[in-house]
Amino acid sequence: MSIPFVEPFRIKMVERIKMTTREQREEFLKAAWNNLFNVRAEDVFIDLLTDSGTGAMSDMQWSGMLRGDESYAGARSYFRFEEAVRETFGFPYVLPTHQGRAAEGMLFQTLVKAGQTVPNNRHFDTTQANLLVLGAHPVDLTVPEGDDPLIDLPFKGNMDLHKLEQLIQELGPENIPLGMTTITNNSAAGQPVSMDNIHQTAALYHRYGIPFFIDACRFAENAWFIKTRDPHYQDKSVREIVLEMFRVADGCTMSAKKDAIVNIGGFIAFRDESLKQKIAQNLIVHEGFLTYGGLSGRDLEAIAVGLREVVEPDYLEYRVSHTRYLGDALSQAGLPVYQPIGGHAVYVDAGRALPHIPPTQFPGVALANALYLAGGIRTTEIGSLMFAHPDPLTGEQILAPMELLRFAIPRQVYTRSHLDYVGEAAVTCVKQAGSIRGLRVAWAPAVLRHFMARMEEV
Ligand SMILES: Cc1ncc(COP(=O)(O)O)c(C=O)c1O
Repeated sequence: MSIPFVEPFRIKMVERIKMTTREQREEFLKAAWNNLFNVRAEDVFIDLLTDSGTGAMSDMQWSGMLRGDESYAGARSYFRFEEAVRETFGFPYVLPTHQGRAAEGMLFQTLVKAGQTVPNNRHFDTTQANLLVLGAHPVDLTVPEGDDPLIDLPFKGNMDLHKLEQLIQELGPENIPLGMTTITNNSAAGQPVSMDNIHQTAALYHRYGIPFFIDACRFAENAWFIKTRDPHYQDKSVREIVLEMFRVADGCTMSAKKDAIVNIGGFIAFRDESLKQKIAQNLIVHEGFLTYGGLSGRDLEAIAVGLREVVEPDYLEYRVSHTRYLGDALSQAGLPVYQPIGGHAVYVDAGRALPHIPPTQFPGVALANALYLAGGIRTTEIGSLMFAHPDPLTGEQILAPMELLRFAIPRQVYTRSHLDYVGEAAVTCVKQAGSIRGLRVAWAPAVLRHFMARMEEV
């Protein structure tokens, strides 16, 4: 018997989940304006909306929480957190924030002015929005193969270095206050970025005097892909690979809700003490004092433990195999799965699964809703509802490069039989694909519209 993978943990506490009928789900979806963000979690059976903050913490993280020092200033928990960040990433300075978007907000509000441009391999929705609200321009420069769901290449999340250099020369480095790269590249199907590409991106930014920051949310998964896909790194430990990735960066923003396996938290880390001092002033106004930044001492303890546990090879091997298992199940169900399968999520090419629905009618949202009706499964669109935005020059809507549906997998939460169940619901959906209808936006806010949009079937 060949076993695809075995969970390297056993379960100490369970949370009941409830199955609903299709008729009930039709009512819930109608009441939610066809937007799964508006559906109550208790009306979802398997929740693959996001891997962010939805993981199950370990016994060591929970026991760490009991040690939480809740002092306002200089808490012991802060120093344990600081030590874990230094040990993992090599940055001497760190400021905690309540989550990743606050880290981005603090960094951008300090460094970026209206009219300036920030390049990234691909901005996530919150990084994009944090720049747009400042009147700045987020520019995405993932390699072209990142937008091809079929080519099976190891590092499709890479930055297109040629386009990056062209952009810097066109705009002038004085108009680029910082440059970023996102590992893994969530909006480009969770694809990893190679070590060479991280180092070459850093060198290019630095050649033009531009500070380089990494969006580090899924740093451990990215390091695992480097270890398993780049033969030069097969004998290095994940810890060594992580240090080598970050050695060339000036800092990072981090949503600890991903690869620190906690339910809330984030941070910004840097090499430059003067930048830390500038950001700290803003942090105190918006997040909290330097040594807690919007978190409690117990949250900082859980992050410190999570950062050490997430780089364990047993955990990472399980994590990637678990995700691949779901990807294979969805492929077998007949859905066009983006290849290769990423670390935290499986992405389905909804544009190809529902060719009768044009991108302007959001095939990703249509497929997400059909899956919810079929089995109470919640997923999210990563396509034009999330990413379409007006061209800064012409005002025309720029659509997302791909209309994807993301099945994000919470860490250490679902078992293999849960994933089998998702595969079966996908089979039902594929059979009904021809009758699934597109949607239009009835109302939406100007920024981050997917979270609150009210949708109507066309
Ligand atoms: C790549 C990336 N950057 C930033 C964020 C924002 O993090 P948070 O949700 O903690 O604000 C996310 C969240 O999903 C993400 O995936």
